[in-house]
Amino acid sequence: MSFPKLGILGGGQLGKMLCQAASCWELPIYALDASIEFPAGPYCRGFQEGSFKNYEDVLGFGRQMDIVTIEIEHVNTDALRQLQTEGKTVHPNPAALDIIKDKGLQKQFYQQHKIPTSPFQLFTDKNAILNAIKSGDLKIPFVQKSRTAGYDGKGVAVIKTEADLTNKLLAGACMIEDLVAMEKEIAVVVARNEKGEIAIFDPVEMEFNPIANLVEFLICPSTITPAQATICTNLAKQVIEAFDICGLLAVELFLDKKGNILVNEVAPRPHNSGHHTIDSAITSQYEQHLRGILNLPLGSTKMTSPSVMVNLLGADGFTGDAHYEGLAECLAIEGVKIHLYGKKMTKPFRKMGHATIIADSIEEAKEKAKQVQSTLIIKTV
Ligand SMILES: Nc1ncnc2c1ncn2[C@@H]1O[C@H](COP(=O)(O)OP(=O)(O)O)[C@@H](O)[C@H]1O
Ligand SMILES: [Mg+2]
Repeated sequence: MSFPKLGILGGGQLGKMLCQAASCWELPIYALDASIEFPAGPYCRGFQEGSFKNYEDVLGFGRQMDIVTIEIEHVNTDALRQLQTEGKTVHPNPAALDIIKDKGLQKQFYQQHKIPTSPFQLFTDKNAILNAIKSGDLKIPFVQKSRTAGYDGKGVAVIKTEADLTNKLLAGACMIEDLVAMEKEIAVVVARNEKGEIAIFDPVEMEFNPIANLVEFLICPSTITPAQATICTNLAKQVIEAFDICGLLAVELFLDKKGNILVNEVAPRPHNSGHHTIDSAITSQYEQHLRGILNLPLGSTKMTSPSVMVNLLGADGFTGDAHYEGLAECLAIEGVKIHLYGKKMTKPFRKMGHATIIADSIEEAKEKAKQVQSTLIIKTV
């Protein structure tokens, strides 16, 4: 067989890792993003500089491709629809993307499809929220999310007190939902192809740093019970089918203190919570995405080892040309797999890479992950 030309909208780290997977098959892969200096630049066959949000840029890029996919949701879907009418294959489908891009529409979609999610309301702006509080229609505590402007926790405000209403409330159109009494946060990466075949990776558990309140470790296998894992994987299957998505879908779930399992949000692309699959599963999420969008048989999602994944973040207080301290020491630890993204500039808490630690037990992997965190420091020279 010969492979079609594949174009990715976005040239960040997820694009880079898609290119790495594509290179195993000599699959011709191209990327569109603002600068060839971005992570995918050196790894694709061709890089087009432009904006994935711009109609003309996406159309011009897509017309040179056979298949178009994404590594970020916030792309121009009108151009994708036009490409479809011109006979191009587009995965994920633009209709699903339009819903997923907007956290308000996403929640309505779950409600319509009877997919469990926390109760919510939509608001046009801050004033509408304050009025709803005055009239008693809305009560503290709640979680406010920007409908279209958030990622990595930016665009999410947890409002617990009167003072938070003055200090923390976000501007613009938003979705407000109940504050969930969280027991665990879980993610499930699922894949589907045009034949409708589905393959699901084992659920991953996010462990938070109690002080920084940031995700610290992504653990696989998770500590949820087999019955809970089945509920999570069944939900992931239900959601990917409801959206009619080919390729990957990462499903973020909340397990609350009462044992309810709720869908939080989804991403129709490779995801942070699937990085470990490069080193600890028979098929990586990146290869699986390619299989899904090319309508190839899906690969085995079987895990080959327990793993802990940590994001390698830019050290606080440093902005400028990235310099990696302690890399050799980390590479000396058995089971430590380092992935650097090649971002030229480091910034405080910027995702500069990740490390997957594979070990016989989660405890051992976590100890080694802590060692990596304290040894590998990303600063400026
Ligand atoms: N309803 C909620 N109740 C409690 N915590 C929440 C709620 N929604 C979000 N969070 C917390 O905020 C984090 C980020 O929210 P999320 O909706 O996933 O936005 P993002 O797009 O930034 O990932 C979640 O991983 C969770 O820790
Ligand atoms: Mg999230």
